[in-house]
Amino acid sequence: MKKYLGDNKKKVAVFISGNGSNLLNIIKFSLTKKSPISVKLIISNNKSAKGLKYSKIYNIKKKIITFRHKSSIELLLTILSKNNISLVLLAGFMKILPKEFIKNFKGKILNIHPSLLPKYKGLDTHARVIKNKEKYTGCTVHYVNFKLDSGKIIIQKRVKISKRDDPKSLAKKVLKQEHKIYPKAILKLFN
Ligand code: GRF
Repeated sequence: MKKYLGDNKKKVAVFISGNGSNLLNIIKFSLTKKSPISVKLIISNNKSAKGLKYSKIYNIKKKIITFRHKSSIELLLTILSKNNISLVLLAGFMKILPKEFIKNFKGKILNIHPSLLPKYKGLDTHARVIKNKEKYTGCTVHYVNFKLDSGKIIIQKRVKISKRDDPKSLAKKVLKQEHKIYPKAILKLFN
C-alpha cells in the first residue's frame, strides 16, 4: 500500500445535506497515511446540516451554496478552483447537480447511493426494496454523470435484508457498509 504525506494528497471537497456520517468517515480516512486524499472543503446546500459541525471539529473550510441560481454554480466553481480541489465527493448530498457543474468536473465527482445500482435509483430505496420483498439491497459508489444515479460503478457492497428489517433498521445496516466502501472506492481510484 502506497503511503501519502500531507502535501502530495489530492485535495477534495465533500458535499453534504444532512447528518454527515459519510463525511465524518471520509475525514477520518483522509487523516490516515494510506489515504491519497485530504479534505479541504465542506459544501452544503443546507445551512442547518448537522454534518457542518465537522468543519469546526476538524478545522475544514465550509461554504453554504443554495444551488438555486446560476450564479451559485459560478461561485462554487471559483471556490473549488481557489482551493485546488481535484475531486468532489457527494456524501448524503440531496440536490441534483446542474449539468453546467458536472461538465466542469467531468469524471471527478463521486457519489454514494444506498442501493445496488442500477436497481433502485432515486429516493426512499430502503422502503422500496422492503415493499418489493427483495432478499438483498446494498450500497454503491459511482461516478456522477448527467443521468441521476447512473454513472460508472466503482464499488458495491451487498446487504442481506432480514424479515425483521424495516426501512430504519435497513438504513442503519446499509450506512455501516457505506462507511466501508467509500474509502475503498477512493483507494481504487488512486491505486
Ligand atoms: C446515506 O444513506 C447516503 O447514502 C444517502 O444519505 C444518507 C445519509 O448520509 N445519500 P450521511 O449520514 O449524511 O452521510
